[in-house]
Amino acid sequence: MDKFVVHESQLSGTVKVSGSKNAALPVMAATLLTDSECTIHNVPDLMDIRTMIKILEVLGKKIEFKEGILSVKANKSKSFVAPYKLVRTMRASFCCLGPLLAKRKRAKVALPGGCVIGARPVDIHIRGLRDLGADIFIEGGYCQAKASQLQGAHIYLGGQYGSSVLATANILMACVLARGQTMIEYAACEPEIECLASFLKKMGADITGEGSPLIRVSGVKKLTGCEFVNIADRIEAGTFIAASLATRSNISIEGVNPFHLTSVIDISKKIGAEIIIEKGGVISIKPNQKLRPVNITTLCYPGFPTDLQAQFMACLSLANGISLVTEKIYPDRFMHVAELNRMGASIQRNGPYSIIEGVEKLKGAEIMASDLRASAALVIAGLAAEGKTEVLRVYHIDRGYENIEEKLRKLGAKIKREKQ
Ligand code: EPU
Repeated sequence: MDKFVVHESQLSGTVKVSGSKNAALPVMAATLLTDSECTIHNVPDLMDIRTMIKILEVLGKKIEFKEGILSVKANKSKSFVAPYKLVRTMRASFCCLGPLLAKRKRAKVALPGGCVIGARPVDIHIRGLRDLGADIFIEGGYCQAKASQLQGAHIYLGGQYGSSVLATANILMACVLARGQTMIEYAACEPEIECLASFLKKMGADITGEGSPLIRVSGVKKLTGCEFVNIADRIEAGTFIAASLATRSNISIEGVNPFHLTSVIDISKKIGAEIIIEKGGVISIKPNQKLRPVNITTLCYPGFPTDLQAQFMACLSLANGISLVTEKIYPDRFMHVAELNRMGASIQRNGPYSIIEGVEKLKGAEIMASDLRASAALVIAGLAAEGKTEVLRVYHIDRGYENIEEKLRKLGAKIKREKQ
């Protein structure tokens, strides 16, 4: 197991954002909808992507992955079983259910179970697929589904916490090959869903309304292979914005669509930064020396993303006053609070709320990463803290950030990877 050794740093320069993991994973699952070859560009080389490659191989795909280009071809096997040993390591594998059912008429996908950020049920996925006429039951820890022909339907995908990104992806991938029209109401509006819809359209699907809460789909008989460029990772970009704020460093971020970060840029300006979108979409950030406290509520897109809550909490722990963070997507996603407090932050958690009383300085400590975004927050805190910080269990960060320490080092960060 590796750890990061981090020292207080000033950052400067420009960083290029990698392809989006959360957009690439459903796009990869969507290749199950055709037997022709698909080539996807700008795929980040991450553990979760490698896991999805293994799942697709088990499901009968032949895959080459080199320098960000993923080529997916059909192999002989037409298996419809995504096994628990792979699914349990990455929940996004559950979005193979929709395409398997649509194309192979049967699917047996392990239920992913909960994880450190919450219970993470899959009821919305199952409800949507049942509306399309699938016969679904749970047995032996697997979700088993059958449908000789899915039938278009009017589907409502709202849940207790709003829309669901991967449930929208699953239903969208299932209904593109269904007979007739489907209307998906309360669809997730995240850019990752727009990206998936663009990919499906390139394969020949008939979709309108993606990026809004109402998506309309007219089923087609067949989809073909295509060449596609994945979007850049807005969460990685937001993580660099948080690092810039916490360390009061001027940096520029390139390669990401700034329109995917409107809420994040808005909050960052309130915290205290001049943010300029330059020609070509480069985001340039100049933080103030004194950070202001703000209230952040995480919401579905275009609201502030839950995937940046931890990183911005690291910034707010250094603001000049009291901030309130309300987590509306995953009310238990606060594992980073205790670790930030070990570094001298003053954060009190109460249910889905955290009250952050800004402190002058954080102090380096040995701290434990608990999940992907929490680990990014701890690295940011380490870059802003006096002395040495050791972030243990960085395999979490490797799941979602491509070459994170190299990118940070290029910006001038004092960060090293060592054996734990
Ligand atoms: N939910 C249900 N029932 C369902 C599905 C979801 O109640 O059937 C609830 C969830 O428990 C949560 C809320 O709905 O409270 C939203 O969850 P959503 O389904 O949107 O999450 P997801 O699709 O499983 C994706 C990202 C997450 C990101 C969330 C929210 C991928 C691979 N994962 O998960 O990313 O936090 O959307 O934006 O796209 C991460 O990258 O660190 C990460 C966790």
